[in-house]
Amino acid sequence: MEYKRILITAALPYANGPVHIGHLAGCYLPADIYTRYQRAQKRDVKFVCGSDEHGVPITIRAMKEGVTPQDVVDRYNAIIRNSFADMGISFDIYSRTSNKTHHETSQAFFKKLYDDGVFEERETEQYYDEEKNTFLADRYIVGTCPVCSNPNAYGDQCEKCGSTLSPEQLIDPRSALSSAPLVKKTTKHWYFPLDKYEGWLNEWIVEGKKDSWKSNVYGQCKSWIDSGLQARAMTRDSNWGVPVPLPGADGKVLYVWFDAPIGYISATKELTTQWADYWCSEDTKLVHFIGKDNIVFHCIIFPSMLKAHGGFVLPENVPANEFLNIEGQKVSTSRNWAVWVDEYVKDFPGQQDMLRYVLCANAPESKDNDFTWKDFQDRINNELVSVFGNFVNRAFVLMHKLCAGRVPKLHEEVIDDADRALIAEIKGSAQKVETCLEGYKFRDGLFEVIDLARKANKYMQDKQPWIVAKTLDTKPEDQKLIDNCLHLCLQLTANLAILANPFLPFTSKKMCGLMKVVDRMLEWENAGRIDLLKSGYPLPAPELLFRKIEDAEVAAQVEKLHDNLKKATMTSDNSGNNNAQQPAEAATAEAPKYLPPKPEITIDDFAKIDLRVATILSAEKVEKADKLLKLELDLGYERRTVLSGIAQHFKPEDIVGKQVTVVANLAPRKMKGIESKGMILMAQNMDGGLVFAAPVAAADNGGEVR
Ligand code: 2FM
Ligand code: ZN
Repeated sequence: MEYKRILITAALPYANGPVHIGHLAGCYLPADIYTRYQRAQKRDVKFVCGSDEHGVPITIRAMKEGVTPQDVVDRYNAIIRNSFADMGISFDIYSRTSNKTHHETSQAFFKKLYDDGVFEERETEQYYDEEKNTFLADRYIVGTCPVCSNPNAYGDQCEKCGSTLSPEQLIDPRSALSSAPLVKKTTKHWYFPLDKYEGWLNEWIVEGKKDSWKSNVYGQCKSWIDSGLQARAMTRDSNWGVPVPLPGADGKVLYVWFDAPIGYISATKELTTQWADYWCSEDTKLVHFIGKDNIVFHCIIFPSMLKAHGGFVLPENVPANEFLNIEGQKVSTSRNWAVWVDEYVKDFPGQQDMLRYVLCANAPESKDNDFTWKDFQDRINNELVSVFGNFVNRAFVLMHKLCAGRVPKLHEEVIDDADRALIAEIKGSAQKVETCLEGYKFRDGLFEVIDLARKANKYMQDKQPWIVAKTLDTKPEDQKLIDNCLHLCLQLTANLAILANPFLPFTSKKMCGLMKVVDRMLEWENAGRIDLLKSGYPLPAPELLFRKIEDAEVAAQVEKLHDNLKKATMTSDNSGNNNAQQPAEAATAEAPKYLPPKPEITIDDFAKIDLRVATILSAEKVEKADKLLKLELDLGYERRTVLSGIAQHFKPEDIVGKQVTVVANLAPRKMKGIESKGMILMAQNMDGGLVFAAPVAAADNGGEVR
């Protein structure tokens, strides 16, 4: 099939936390490499992405922080967008699913399926919180894990032992929102009958994609299809999301996995009025870049939705990557075991290509891989610096020393076999890198680039122009040999810039500056040419392309990981509200990083909070809760019990008699069967330590804090 245009999508990240290097390696970096390569081929290509701003984790995070879901997505959309821009991920558009266009597009999509009678309406019983008047998504239900007895397992998963659960399996299930007992209520939802698409999926994927899709992707799809598909609810009871566009569907929104992939369409609509050319023409090559956890949604559910709707192109390929572990452990955002992209950019300013290099060279293309800082250092120092950077630097230095700082001529009459072999390598490399990139084999492609630099180093080492230069007095004609060697080394440098450009765009740009050529030289059709730099052209002195990574930097990064983990474990709360998608709050407050400011409030908002002075009358540990202390407080006008998660910071006997500040009108809450009424204010230090936020001089109990 001759494609006229290419539409490249990268999974829309949830806007409820920053992105880490696992995200980059899994999907955004390969998508960007592929896009840059296609652009260099001067093909008609669009690269779309955006924030996925709906779904339960976002509402949980908002609830935890006492802000609105919109506040959460606004904050993280900005952080994520900047991280991508910093790393050179060159989207044509980075949109958001909270945009109007997206709401309209996904509603129209749903309505069309509804009008065509695609959905099945079903009534089921679901857990309901009568105090909060809301149905509870699985994540909002907590209880004891039947496998490992973790008292704070979620209705869909236990984060301690990793078991996948359903709310029915939890022992003593309870609402995460209130202390109200759980009840079941009937609710109606619209189901997409995936089972009816089994035959078609079998033909399209199992029979049709065996040779073209990656085996990890194909294998997962086949096993899903082989084990039988079931109808899936495409709506949820929630007030955060795209409202279901049907009369009488108040309080119901589209399932986040229904609306999110439609986000690719909405983003394209925002990008260009020609969006339909990209989505509705058979000669568009649609490629979804994702991580392996998204395979079923992009290969089975979304294509079935597109098929049911009709008129849309289907993905030609879904080159999903596996996961990247960090220092031998799975990435865990709740334990803050991750390398955050925004942190990397701060710690290694101007060194984005180093990370791009390592993440691609070690990409989890066919199996989970491990990122270690030691490997990062080794690859940078032994490959980027010693092979690539060193070659380019030597070529420039020698040109200045032996060829008067100008690109020397190529003297045809003295070209020898080694020169011819190098020319063949230059041409061959372009072809090899191209084949790799066309086949989504990015690691192999990058290897070929470095391999060309390796061969170039060997060529230069064999030719030894600096030795030849020593005998020029007696053999002046040997200048031609020196010229040929450096001429070819410089042409090869130009080729390296072209071939490296999709992978290391910042470096290629810098190389263009060094070679005094315009960026257009980087177009792919120039790859393999050996007349890219004009003979006689004066070039500036070299600048180092890369710097070495010191042992101390590796040690500092490893220490940072362990520190983050320690803080996250120390401060993760015990209330069952910890969120798998997220770093614990304190964990991100790593010195000297401050939590982002919360949105502005009015004086009226503040006035609602009743802050009072109180004295701790007694304090004791709470059974089976290693973080909680039970405090009896004297508020002047009354005594009351407050549970506080400070047991790991203070001994009960040390705090009796202390004055504290209390949020006195906080709704009561039951923990471990004890009702807690109010909350003690604490200040959190950057090292995770806590101090009482209390009056500095003796004050009257019950006195208002303003
Ligand atoms: O796994 C995730 O991060 C999802 N937010 C990906 C969505 S991809 C697409 F469907 F929007
Ligand atoms: Zn468990």
